[in-house]
Amino acid sequence: VEDDRISRISSSIRVIPDFPKPGIMFHDITTMLLNPVAFKDTIDLFIERYKDKNISVVAGVEARGFIFGPPIALAIGAKFVPMRKPSKLPGAVISEEYSLEYGSDIMEMHVGAVEAGERTLVIDDLIATGGTLEAAIKLLERVGANIVECACVIELRNLKLRKCYKELDYGHKRKVN
Ligand code: PRP
Repeated sequence: VEDDRISRISSSIRVIPDFPKPGIMFHDITTMLLNPVAFKDTIDLFIERYKDKNISVVAGVEARGFIFGPPIALAIGAKFVPMRKPSKLPGAVISEEYSLEYGSDIMEMHVGAVEAGERTLVIDDLIATGGTLEAAIKLLERVGANIVECACVIELRNLKLRKCYKELDYGHKRKVN
């Protein structure tokens, strides 16, 4: 049953070569969102994995972690915390600069959104180098969060994953290319 779901999910994701730059194979999850069965399968797989783990925080990384994180958070009874691009959050924030394949970016989180010791799940759509998730982990660890797992819909294995973090298990990584 699960294999049917995985193959349905994989085939619902469109791969567009040379976007946004030459040489990049862009994994476009918007085509999955057009397929309510594949979208629900995706969310259900995460819910099945995380529902009985006493998770009180789902942290989603802008932008596509905002699509997958909230339905998971609602289903498992956790709060949702957005990890945002700079200067978007109105309250007091903590920030982490991180490097991308070309250049760098900054991620921010509201102070007070996560309390020390809270069991936290980090969600994004895709892991490539791991730099984005690493920034999210650093922010959450600065406030003392207990990170249970980081989970993505897509793992790009043709890119070398940085040594991601201690023995954290990147749950639910699925090879789609
Ligand atoms: C993509 C993706 C992840 C990140 C993964 O985001 O959604 O957040 O890259 O790459 P990494 O593992 O090498 O850090 P993108 O930079 O396209 O930002 P966006 O979702 O806001 O468009």
